[in-house]
Amino acid sequence: MQTYLELLNEAKAILQRNTMTVTVNGKLYERIIPSRDFYVHQWLWDSAGIAMGQVHIDEEAAFHELLSLIAGQWNNGLIPHIIYNPGETRYYPPADQWQTTRFTRDGIKTSGITDPPLLAIAAANLCDHASDEQKKRDFIITLLPSMMAYHDHLKRYRDPEDCGLLTIVHPWESGTDDSPRWDSVLNRIDLNNIPTDLKANVDLNRKDIRYQNSEERPTEADYYRYIYLIELFKDLAWDYTKILHETPFAVKDILFNSIWARANEALAALLHTYGNQEEANTYQRWAEQTQKALTNTWSEEDQQYCDIDVTQGRHQAIVAPTNAIFMPLYAGAVTDAQLDILLQRLSNTDEFCSAYPVPSTAIHSRYFDKERYWRGPTWPITNFFIIEGLKRYTARHKNADQLANFFMQKTVQMIKENGFWEYFDPLDDATEPHAKGMGFSSFSWTAAILIQLLNKLYYN
Ligand code: DGY
Repeated sequence: MQTYLELLNEAKAILQRNTMTVTVNGKLYERIIPSRDFYVHQWLWDSAGIAMGQVHIDEEAAFHELLSLIAGQWNNGLIPHIIYNPGETRYYPPADQWQTTRFTRDGIKTSGITDPPLLAIAAANLCDHASDEQKKRDFIITLLPSMMAYHDHLKRYRDPEDCGLLTIVHPWESGTDDSPRWDSVLNRIDLNNIPTDLKANVDLNRKDIRYQNSEERPTEADYYRYIYLIELFKDLAWDYTKILHETPFAVKDILFNSIWARANEALAALLHTYGNQEEANTYQRWAEQTQKALTNTWSEEDQQYCDIDVTQGRHQAIVAPTNAIFMPLYAGAVTDAQLDILLQRLSNTDEFCSAYPVPSTAIHSRYFDKERYWRGPTWPITNFFIIEGLKRYTARHKNADQLANFFMQKTVQMIKENGFWEYFDPLDDATEPHAKGMGFSSFSWTAAILIQLLNKLYYN
């Protein structure tokens, strides 16, 4: 069995191995990719999460990771969810499928949708942990205009009604691609209406299930719909006013919006220290507006916060027992009564307190599938948000602290016993190894979280 020091060294080695240097139009970029097998480009929320671990071992590299992300920012402020590394063919869909180069700079190729907006949270976190004051200041001053442009873009195009909750238009924007939360919305896209050549193209080119067990990935039908949406948005020339109007998938996602609320708090705090107070007030106001709106998505009957399906004029709550219901803790949007219920559900061994918590879907639910991506496995990344969320409430409830510590220990244990996988079997079903690792191995974000958790548990 590895010692914690060996484990930490392995995490560092993974981040080093997953660092890629590429040249685009004569310019050099260094980026950390999520994994060597499939995710061979740069992902927005992965990179932000990775930088938060990286800062504990190499401050310079952590700053660099966020700065390289903004190199992919569009002229209109959007930060896309993937920045492609040229020459890499191990991921599908390929860069050229999106046709977005007219929006980017320096010939950089990107996707056309975004990811949960973790950037400002990561930037603030780097400031909390980095030691060199001057470098910190230079870094933030460089990053601030891009972060503001990104937030302004999201507010303008994803919340035109100014309700406080942003709309996502693709399941990939949620980061939880095949979550049961999206079933009812996605199922309205009739597979019979998806062109045969599109389906044939997916069948021929899909890469993830070549490298890995298809039981652990989204289904064929999911993929047809994911790619169908991309083709639709491309036809709409990536005009988000039109996309919001026409997409068959438009959702106010509680996970995405919890990160949005906290990112606005982070941006406001950064502006307070390094920028302009009037601007800080704007983002703080947005944070509070989103916190209030998240609180109001609570369903008393279902004892959970609900995503809202807003597709083509609908306003319908989505009820699904997934770990996204704990994300408003991270946003600081939870009332005392809601907190009691969330803590009960998190402690319930029939629901979310499985042998290796926190499963992405409640284990008693009809949707639960212990192997399939976001339909059951436990993910270190969502555990991290839940732990950080619980920490916001330790003064209000002693169980919040206990649960946060318990989930930290369990997350470290899963990684220590099985390795740096993307996600883990949440059950103890008497097969060996327990908490079997699944998805892609040597996963950068898992390594970064391990570094953060060991820091919190043993070095603070
Ligand atoms: C994938 O390809 O699996 C990603 O989740 C999309 O970003």
